[in-house]
Amino acid sequence: MSRKLLVDIHTHLYLPRYAQLLRARSQIPRITTLNGEERLVILAGEASTGRPVGPSYWDRNEKLRFMDTHGIDVSIVSPANPWLDFLPPAPAAQACEELNSDLEEYCATSPQLEGTRFKRLYGMAYLPVVPGAEVDAVCRSVESLGKLPHIKGVILGTQGLGQGLDDPVLLPMWETLARAGLVVFLHPHYGMPPSVWGAQENGHVLPLALGFPFETTTAVARLILTGLLDKLPTLKLLLAHSGGALPVLSSRLASCIAHDPVASSRPQHDARYYLGRMWYDAVAYGPEELAFVASTVGRAGRYAGNGKEPETRGTERLLWGTDHPFFPPLKGEAMWMSVTENLDAVKNAPGWSEVEKEGVRGGNAVDLFGL
Ligand code: URA
Ligand code: ZN
Repeated sequence: MSRKLLVDIHTHLYLPRYAQLLRARSQIPRITTLNGEERLVILAGEASTGRPVGPSYWDRNEKLRFMDTHGIDVSIVSPANPWLDFLPPAPAAQACEELNSDLEEYCATSPQLEGTRFKRLYGMAYLPVVPGAEVDAVCRSVESLGKLPHIKGVILGTQGLGQGLDDPVLLPMWETLARAGLVVFLHPHYGMPPSVWGAQENGHVLPLALGFPFETTTAVARLILTGLLDKLPTLKLLLAHSGGALPVLSSRLASCIAHDPVASSRPQHDARYYLGRMWYDAVAYGPEELAFVASTVGRAGRYAGNGKEPETRGTERLLWGTDHPFFPPLKGEAMWMSVTENLDAVKNAPGWSEVEKEGVRGGNAVDLFGL
């Protein structure tokens, strides 16, 4: 295929059925109406006014229009946070099945990308991973995705069954996901306790800019510590927001593990090694940040400990994204800065070849998701 694709692997939706679920609620998370305008209230501690929400979240034509405006060929859409996290196990399982079927339909009936074998839309599914759920039910849900051909992965928050993702009870879920070959898109929602943001009103800046990435960082560090990546070498973990603070903290993490009497005997490798075992969205908004992430991913082989694993460029594990429909322009401009900045970041990443940039823009996604 000679055509160079732009593939968005970090783009969200609320399916109409999910939006209805949020409208019916009186507590966070919810969609409420203020002065005739719908508002989304999903973050702990945020004002009841939340943020504007509209068709860009649920109307497929809006998604396609946004893609056309920004030259995006293919999107791998994932449900937006907080997924099913707030539901008890039985309603979560039922909603999960219905919503995943809606998502398959949303993608399967999307247009073909002209002159190619690709659809414009593929999906990452919900999982019924909620407090109190049985892991067997989660495994059955993963297995059922095999019947949905346009579903190429799952999106997963960090709460697990209430004890986080390093809960040993979740091992069968990870095994089932690895066996199914599905990409697991690890995405934050909870951030940090609202008290750390202080008393000044700063909108959503601190929870989104800092809390989200730090939540991902913590979740992945815990997975590394628990040895999950040693047990499941074929698991495909894709980290939101370029892995948060993990790339810049990975040597510190490795050092703290090496000096810790409790943790030093696990995991099997130096913590830096595992950075080369995961994938990262390129949603970092800056060229130097992207180049830095790639450099920490590429050096991972140095820490294999057996001298046998090569260092790489790291760019082969970065995949471009937008985080649409979040971060719309404040003044309604047609071109979204949140998109153009992430495109410019790839274009201007210091030291990257054109071939590497093409990979990050689309080729790596085609390979990872098996499109
Ligand atoms: N805000 C959210 O709540 N979720 C995102 O994915 C991005 C911004
Ligand atoms: Zn996101």
